Amino acid sequence: MQTFLQGGGVMIKHIKLNHDNLAFAIEVQREIFPYEDATKKYTEMVNGENDNNYFLVYNGDECIGVSGLAHYGADVEDGFLGWFGILPKYRRLGLGSEALRLLDETARDLGYRRMRVIFNTETGFPGAKTFLKVNGYTAESYQCPRDRVSLSGNYAILSRSLYNEPCEPWNNRNLHLTDEEK
Ligand SMILES: CC(C)(COP(=O)(O)OP(=O)(O)OC[C@H]1O[C@@H](n2cnc3c(N)ncnc32)[C@H](O)[C@@H]1OP(=O)(O)O)[C@@H](O)C(=O)NCCC(=O)NCCS
Repeated sequence: MQTFLQGGGVMIKHIKLNHDNLAFAIEVQREIFPYEDATKKYTEMVNGENDNNYFLVYNGDECIGVSGLAHYGADVEDGFLGWFGILPKYRRLGLGSEALRLLDETARDLGYRRMRVIFNTETGFPGAKTFLKVNGYTAESYQCPRDRVSLSGNYAILSRSLYNEPCEPWNNRNLHLTDEEK
């Protein structure tokens, strides 16, 4: 469990999902992302069937959101944010930025060198891109000829180095989003 202490009594913690908090985590995820359902990926992680890392985010004793880290196939240096979100009543208080900073530490511990986010400019939360840019991410368009859904032009990848080094762009490598949507 990672924690972050700040003046003003903010204490952010990431608590990894387990059998006991799984149902609650799904409720929180569904409140933040009403059109997405993480049940399958969360359950697989808890059962040891995937190596993603999903967390509940707490400020002290209060659950304020969910967060997650995943990677694609053998590419173990690029960590993708998965279902990272803050419950509506806790937004615009700087808590999302603190939770993201704390997740960076976990990401480094897991061996990632860069953080990435797939963003759908049509369906994504409008403030998310600004939030990520304010937190140091840069955007590139994602259009991969072998990943058909990306050719709609609606996808962006936002990236940030986890170290003091320039962040290599994603450069349209295949994310297989088309297969995932089937
Ligand atoms: C995006 C999200 C995580 C931001 O969480 P948060 O706790 O409100 O973020 P912060 O308070 O740390 O915001 C930091 C800065 O990001 C920007 N920002 C955050 N939300 C914004 C919004 N809705 N519109 C415009 N800018 C926004 C602002 O510059 C903000 O600073 P300010 O409040 O001083 O103006 C939250 O709104 C959320 O969970 N959204 C739904 C889920 C989602 O889109 N997840 C994907 C995130 S990668």
